[in-house]
Amino acid sequence: MKITKICCIGAGYVGGPTMAVIAKKNPNIQVTIVDINAERIAAWNNEDVSQLPIYEPGLAEIVKETRGKNLHFSTEIDKSIDESEMIFISVNTPTKTYGKGKGMAADLKYVELCARNIAEVATTDKIVVEKSTLPVRTAQAIKSILNNTGNDVKFDILSNPEFLAEGTAIEDLLSPDRVLIGGESEEAIESLAKVYGAWVDDERILRTNVWSSELSKLTANAFLAQRISSINAISELCEKTEADVNEVARAIGMDSRIGPKFLSASIGFGGSCFQKDILNLVYIARSYGLTEVAEYWEQVITLNDHQKRRFSDNLISTLYNTVSGKKIAMLGWAFKKDTNDTRESAAIYVADHLLSEQAQIAVYDPKVSEQRIQADLNYLNTRSEEENQELVDTFNNPYEAVKDAHAIAIMTEWDEFKTYDWKKIYDSMKKPAFIFDGRNILNEEETTKLGFEYSGIGK
Ligand code: UDX
Ligand code: ADP
Repeated sequence: MKITKICCIGAGYVGGPTMAVIAKKNPNIQVTIVDINAERIAAWNNEDVSQLPIYEPGLAEIVKETRGKNLHFSTEIDKSIDESEMIFISVNTPTKTYGKGKGMAADLKYVELCARNIAEVATTDKIVVEKSTLPVRTAQAIKSILNNTGNDVKFDILSNPEFLAEGTAIEDLLSPDRVLIGGESEEAIESLAKVYGAWVDDERILRTNVWSSELSKLTANAFLAQRISSINAISELCEKTEADVNEVARAIGMDSRIGPKFLSASIGFGGSCFQKDILNLVYIARSYGLTEVAEYWEQVITLNDHQKRRFSDNLISTLYNTVSGKKIAMLGWAFKKDTNDTRESAAIYVADHLLSEQAQIAVYDPKVSEQRIQADLNYLNTRSEEENQELVDTFNNPYEAVKDAHAIAIMTEWDEFKTYDWKKIYDSMKKPAFIFDGRNILNEEETTKLGFEYSGIGK
């Protein structure tokens, strides 16, 4: 099938950057991203590209270049579906918060609604590409909905999992390690391979069956998350011995079989994928009666929760066992640097714990809004919205956030934190001035020389 028009349902962290790059590299294809959220679409259409709903290095430039030419943002979902030969589903698949599989299984209601929507309005044959992270065998479910409710048009379903990491999404999309396409119809697979072929070498485009493709995505994320939990487990052991986790990571990373990436000990991984995907894997394993497999992967999450809790416990015990009424300045709220995404960010859980101990929290993050921070805390339902509002202040200037603080907690590894005037910060804080470096980004020796009481991870 010759592809001249692509529709992407879901204008989020996956759909936005992915379609922007597809449009840039395929000037002959018209790409329309649709969403039910009109506010979000309006933000994508904002004249001023610095105001796009998603912050991703390099994204604004590509949107500026392609928007209005062959990249469009719209709320006209039905129209765009029917006009296009290829439809990507990039809607959110959060962990279920109700019913069977609550807290474990992926909530597929948004995906199902999309499939039904496509089935209802499509009048010509379509290739439907699942892009959202989904549990294994979802393509089968989508297929069944499409084939049983459609208007006698032919649907080919492909699984094309996304491997971009936020903060480096554009780079990852422009030079992917691999592009994975799972499907039954060779013709449909080749149509999608051609879209990527505009800039990706063919040997990097892997063709598999649908289930391998779906399971590869969960497995890749589970392995990556496992590395972080592994090094974080060692970080606790380092704190009890005289070892330094950075030195251990460097030493093991030089073993070419292990490799140096994803070995930074931290306050614990966050983001929309790792926890959700492992929970999915665990849920699927359980549903097949594979208890040992489920328990094996579940430990990755247990350790991650432990690492977040350990960080706040250590902060409290160092501040003489109480943070009640004390000002704790949190630098960073996003789950990693170079993104404004805060989903599952460790900062949320650390803040929530400190608030339950009656701390006053001051937050500075270069890209996260006050509204987002309040919404993240309110979502946990630990206390009233009014209390969160009263106990948490958000600042646009880091020097104001840290003024008169008893302690600073570094939650995100934003580069700018390294270049601050730390002497000035020290002078403006209450003494002793504590730093809890949840990302090991500051130099311990220099910081201690300035007078700080420094505490890193795994040191
Ligand atoms: C991840 C996968 O990397 C990506 O391929 C997939 O498509 C989606 O999930 P993302 O969640 O955007 O991407 O970011 P990633 O860079 O993987 O980081 C996830 C979390 O792990 C962050 O909180 C990060 O700070 C943390 N992390 C990462 C560590 O704590 N230590 C490390 O060494 C690396
Ligand atoms: P991701 O990180 O997976 O991209 P996001 O939450 O950033 O997740 O984006 C998903 C987007 O999908 C949201 O903007 C949401 O409004 C949109 N969406 C969800 N369901 C539908 C639907 N049925 N039709 C159109 N858009 C949808």
